[in-house]
Amino acid sequence: MAMIRPVLRMGDPRLWQRARPVEQFATPALRALVADMEETMRHLDGAGLAAPQIGVGLRVVIFGFAHNARYPDADEVPYTVLINPTLTPLSEETEDGWEGCLSVPGLRGVVPRWRRLRYTGFDAAGNPIDRSVEGFHARVVQHECDHLDGILYPMRMRDMSRFGFVDELNLGGTPD
Ligand code: NI
Repeated sequence: MAMIRPVLRMGDPRLWQRARPVEQFATPALRALVADMEETMRHLDGAGLAAPQIGVGLRVVIFGFAHNARYPDADEVPYTVLINPTLTPLSEETEDGWEGCLSVPGLRGVVPRWRRLRYTGFDAAGNPIDRSVEGFHARVVQHECDHLDGILYPMRMRDMSRFGFVDELNLGGTPD
């Protein structure tokens, strides 16, 4: 039975740590972790979640949504479980965009990200994943994979005048 797990918030030292690769796929423990992550992400209406955010130091992220109230203008992103990911930018081009994070509740900031990238990795059964994506899909993957290296989005920001509370910024969408 999947459980909604508490999400760590910025300041918890576990969010600054580098996560370890998963060594065994298709195990009950890995399936249970992914199920808990999905339950937690859906409960909080998140666009994605990384295992370190629930205190598990493994290189596992999930993301995806059909329509997300927190990002009303974003294109659909297929639900994806991505383990031991590798990201490769497909061009030098970067793009600014608003981000939030379940570990930084109530806030949004503008973050530069690669506009197009390829990501590879594995699903929970150990099947390979290899996709080339752009726009918000690419942004979500970069945000989630940063969590695996102990990076939260405010650390990527260049203009702190574009960082604030959702209910002050009037961006549309709903607060965390
Ligand atoms: Ni996040």
